[in-house]
Amino acid sequence: MFLAFEGIDGCGKSTQIGLLVDYLEQELGRDVVVLKEPGSTPLGESIRSLLLEPGHGDLEPETELFLFMAARSHLVRQVIAPALESGAVVLCDRFLWSSVVYQGMAGGLGVETVLKIGRLATGGILPDRTFLLDIPVSVSYARKVEQGKVQEGAVNRMEEKGRRFQEKVRRGFLVLARRFPRQFALIDARGAPADVQGQVRRRLPRRLRLSRAGK
Ligand code: TYD
Repeated sequence: MFLAFEGIDGCGKSTQIGLLVDYLEQELGRDVVVLKEPGSTPLGESIRSLLLEPGHGDLEPETELFLFMAARSHLVRQVIAPALESGAVVLCDRFLWSSVVYQGMAGGLGVETVLKIGRLATGGILPDRTFLLDIPVSVSYARKVEQGKVQEGAVNRMEEKGRRFQEKVRRGFLVLARRFPRQFALIDARGAPADVQGQVRRRLPRRLRLSRAGK
């Protein structure tokens, strides 16, 4: 079983993944492998550093796409496929839908192009379900203020641009969730972590929820 989590920055993916790991391991007795894209392998971490390296300036969306896809094709073959083969539940913080939204929609490369290249990169190994943790950009911003990541009131031009970009990303994910309803579970992630986790658990694939006895 392969589950992915998507959403804008500050939507609570890592908190929800942590809570779900506890449930899957302790309540359902499952082996769980937790991954984060890009990263989770030495090559993936190197690619992550390349992507975040400020000296490279603003990368072209095409260049970014191939770097994310290179990290992904490696992760799928080295880690995800063997973990699934061994019967583990794989939880991934971001996967192909992030490329579709960030490079395909916000970056302008197009949904179909990214999905096509994604088929090659993933070899067709795709999440059984993707939880879209949806929050308004204002809530994500307020959380960042709370965590001390941005200063309240200090909305300069860059941050304003950042917020407009986040709006685009949020809308992109919602469009995809509507267009591919069987792949996504849309979660209202505005509430307290425990409430959000309740929604996530209710939307787990049936096959996983029923796996307690037999494993
Ligand atoms: P990260 O610091 O991991 O952010 P988050 O905690 O929100 O996941 O940085 C990952 C960034 O990379 C994030 O802004 C989304 C972006 N991204 C893409 O643009 N395309 C992709 O395919 C992936 C996986 C991530």
